[in-house]
Amino acid sequence: MLYGYGKAVLSAGNPQVVVVSNRGAYVLQEHGDTLIPKRTVGGLASAVEPVLTDYGGTWISWCGRLDNSGRKTGAMLEVPQADPRYHIQEVLLTEEEHTRYYHGFCNACLWPLLHQLPERCTFRQDYWEAYRLVNRKFARITLQTRKEIYWIHDFHLALVPQFLRCALPEAKIAFFWHVPFPPADFFQILPWGRQLIYGLLGSDLIAFHTPQYAQNFLETVARYYPVKIFREQGLIRFRNRRIIVSAIPVGINFHRFEQLAADPKVRLRAQEIRNSLGAEKILLGVDRMDYTKGIPQRLKALAHLLEQHPGYRGKVTLLQIAVPSRNGLGEYGALRQEVERLVGEINGHFDEVQGAIPVRYRYQSLDLPELVAHYLAADVLLVTALRDGLNLVAKEFVASRIDGRGVLVLSQFAGAAQELQGAVLANPHEPHDLARKIKTALEMPLPEQRSRLEAMRRVVKNHDVRWWWQSHFKIIKSLYPGTIPTPSAARL
Ligand code: F6P
Repeated sequence: MLYGYGKAVLSAGNPQVVVVSNRGAYVLQEHGDTLIPKRTVGGLASAVEPVLTDYGGTWISWCGRLDNSGRKTGAMLEVPQADPRYHIQEVLLTEEEHTRYYHGFCNACLWPLLHQLPERCTFRQDYWEAYRLVNRKFARITLQTRKEIYWIHDFHLALVPQFLRCALPEAKIAFFWHVPFPPADFFQILPWGRQLIYGLLGSDLIAFHTPQYAQNFLETVARYYPVKIFREQGLIRFRNRRIIVSAIPVGINFHRFEQLAADPKVRLRAQEIRNSLGAEKILLGVDRMDYTKGIPQRLKALAHLLEQHPGYRGKVTLLQIAVPSRNGLGEYGALRQEVERLVGEINGHFDEVQGAIPVRYRYQSLDLPELVAHYLAADVLLVTALRDGLNLVAKEFVASRIDGRGVLVLSQFAGAAQELQGAVLANPHEPHDLARKIKTALEMPLPEQRSRLEAMRRVVKNHDVRWWWQSHFKIIKSLYPGTIPTPSAARL
């Protein structure tokens, strides 16, 4: 029911939006007196940016700079500099705000809670206070920009919708939640859960990756507030307002991945990567270095496979790309050490005199062509997240495999498992199961690979990035018929 927007394409134009997120598509670097916008890589940025590059608008985000001078607003610039398409409005954070709001409440409290890892949560009143203050700051800066739709993103900014609603009762506000939304019992562990939900209820539309997250959210609202909830329609009546709750999984730019995968330079690079590894079969992992991604579990499953099936030794290599992330937090450093220790142990234990090394590990990010070359070089992509809102890497791999080869091993706890039914689903908590699924993937006959990929490619193509944001605007339009301008008003 909650997927119910099918192939939503707006018939009459799209509105200009203000996007608000903690991190945007650019960071600002200071070179003397000049500010240079530098692109970032990340799922949120690549999903949201096309709507702004196509139709104009403003993106409000923290751009990586810390400022203790008391300035109220940061810089405003047009980007890309060479061919300006939209504005970025910077939100400056003080060092203390950054520590308590971002490292503290967002990453040491909400992040583990939402991924159902409560033993990792730190609950601190000063973190919560900082979260409120920073959300208020984002809202204040957002209110200086008037556009047709305010589109707020992710758990960093859950209070922003209600702050906007108080100041602008008629505003059209959409919110997208990029991470899992846990069951109500679980969410209620959060001491400030009620306030956080109240913040979100300032929106007209609250969207999630899966119907399950949307249902969990509705159930949570019902625990805190005596409101009317129509579960089947995904509708809440709250203080005389209608709020739509829907599942609209993020899509990717399918066409761009297909294009890159057909590029002779990228294909040559894929061949180089294969040759350099010297393995008969290549397993690939591409993840942010985050404890939710299940990298140690993947390595342990590989060790198990090589133990149980010695025939694979010297023939199979796992190429693990770990993208640096949240370095300011101690447990991310500890995770890196654990991963590197496991890589050393496995290579020490299973390396054969001849043949491929069991694990090749790189701690770096890849640009898009290089990423696609890696997808093409692999036989199997391993996505073994302990819990993941969606997982765009899985979709990117599927879109890149225009050759009809390749197998996706996908955690049953990643949101993408709902859509990508052609994947080999696995339980990453259980190394034996994961090892068995990796073996299934390694031995899968080509016709089966092809038919599974075809089914997944259809889904990823139909639910691409444009479908994603057009679905949001279609819902907002249905709530406010006739108030959103037609294409002549939009910048095309
Ligand atoms: O996908 C969830 C998310 O929190 C995004 O909002 C964020 O950009 C990404 O993970 C990476 O995390 P961070 O911004 O903390 O580096």
